[in-house]
Amino acid sequence: MALEHAAPYLIEQKYGDYTPEQHATWAELVRRRRPQIEAAACREYLDGYAFLGLEGDRLPNLRKISALLKPRTGWSATPVSGFLPGEAFFEMLAARMFPTTTYIRPANSLDYTPEPDIFHDVFGHVPMHAHKVFADFLQHYGAVCASLKDHDLLERIGRLFWYTVEFGLIRQGGEVKVYGSGVISSQGECTNVLSGGCEIADFRLDDVLDAPVIVDHIHKKLFAIESFDQIYEAMHDAEKQILEVRH
Ligand SMILES: [Fe+2]
Repeated sequence: MALEHAAPYLIEQKYGDYTPEQHATWAELVRRRRPQIEAAACREYLDGYAFLGLEGDRLPNLRKISALLKPRTGWSATPVSGFLPGEAFFEMLAARMFPTTTYIRPANSLDYTPEPDIFHDVFGHVPMHAHKVFADFLQHYGAVCASLKDHDLLERIGRLFWYTVEFGLIRQGGEVKVYGSGVISSQGECTNVLSGGCEIADFRLDDVLDAPVIVDHIHKKLFAIESFDQIYEAMHDAEKQILEVRH
């Protein structure tokens, strides 16, 4: 599929070029995050992680990940050069290609990366792409956003992405579990949720669309779904709302 907007950002992952230090950085990040994640992540994330066979001691090979994912949900983890402008990002999601960075944060900055890196993208995002309902939701989100030009509508629907894909929580077996990549990949955000530092509201589409995105501060309020069907349906409801605004 030709990517009109994203083409300039597509790169190769030169797997053989990673240094032993970079593999060690990945290993250290996984070593730090896995214990909390094994206890706090939802079933679907943990199943996806196991399905992808992510290794704790070396950086993931995106070609191998895509070869596993594609037959299951149609998704790939497609290497890109860095942060993408909206139209390129949405175009890729609509094509079930997840824009995946290949860069890993430096060893002296393990807790913070100003831009997404391969740890945030692969450890945080990609395991959920093995789940069929989540995978279909994410593709639909991309397709709807790719068709939008209105800045205010994009900002509003972007909150649905933020409070699900990036910072989503789910209730499972009487407990709150995490599935959003920003909570999965960040010790601070995850501990904040588990320790009661954050109000956990029931997911309702209108509340989420009204909740501003907080980028520089730890979250004070996040939303918990009951099942992934809920966000799949919410995306269809959001699309209907947008069509009503347009006409
Ligand atoms: Fe992300």
